[in-house]
Amino acid sequence: MAETPTIASSYTFDPFARHQFYHDVNESLVRRAIDRLDAILPKGRAAHVVELASGTGAVTELILNEMERLGRPGSVTGVEPSTEAIEIARERLEGRSVEFIQGEADEVARLGAEADASFFCNAIHLISDKADVISKLAAALRPGGLLAINSSFYTGAYAPGSERFYHLWTRRALGWLRAHHPGVRTSRQEKAMAMQWLSADGYSDLMSQRGLRVVDRAEELVQMPLSSWQDIGRYWLFIEGALPGVPIPMGADALYHAAGEAFNELGLTAVPRVWLQMVAQKGK
Ligand SMILES: C[S@@+](CC[C@H](N)C(=O)[O-])C[C@H]1O[C@@H](n2cnc3c(N)ncnc32)[C@H](O)[C@@H]1O
Repeated sequence: MAETPTIASSYTFDPFARHQFYHDVNESLVRRAIDRLDAILPKGRAAHVVELASGTGAVTELILNEMERLGRPGSVTGVEPSTEAIEIARERLEGRSVEFIQGEADEVARLGAEADASFFCNAIHLISDKADVISKLAAALRPGGLLAINSSFYTGAYAPGSERFYHLWTRRALGWLRAHHPGVRTSRQEKAMAMQWLSADGYSDLMSQRGLRVVDRAEELVQMPLSSWQDIGRYWLFIEGALPGVPIPMGADALYHAAGEAFNELGLTAVPRVWLQMVAQKGK
């Protein structure tokens, strides 16, 4: 990923990450993985958990809470490229057993740690070479260690019947841009570089080819209200993917207004979305 732009501090992921459904769907994955980890580790042994793309600390907090709930001692190392996000996470988790390192997911080997479990949540779709990053994540686990990933940007993410919302949202956003900023165009070339989606089986195959046996796989349906679409539409990385080449503040305004229009026109109270949740175990 390129340098985090300075604009990122005004267009953060944090408002979206504070929605209840987001907490719940991530907590579900965290429980699937940490409860399994707790069952395989000897009683009282400290667990070492690595979290890639730890962002503003939403999932980090869930991991720490779950270890605490189970009485499992341990610590989390968060790895995240954005210094703005790390600042928010540090503040949020002050006094907890956690450290943050600035870096990208494919630098995980640099930690030199044999993790008991690794998490890579809501971010793997941003990585173009997914096979490479999964190999590196597998290498950084101890034998028998667990890898947990989730994503709502995979080929099963659109709940049946919800496609019309995405089409209308995009159409209305482009219409809003044309009306308010007639000179601004989206860039097709950058679109080709945007998020690449795999299927659930595609992820399972990548893992098994790299010595990771999928031990838990679920697709969870979530109801997302208008405010959450407006919040994700104000996140700079999402804007780059949805409206490539458009200046972030203009893209944010367009997506915000267009989400409201699409909800109104379609008479919606929420749009359903599917999250892929996977836990895999490294061979012993
Ligand atoms: C949608 S947020 C998810 C944050 C957090 N994992 C969560 O689930 O709430 C995506 C995060 O991935 C980070 N990211 C983007 N590219 C990355 C990369 N190559 N390696 C590690 N993290 C990356 C972004 O900076 C951002 O914090």
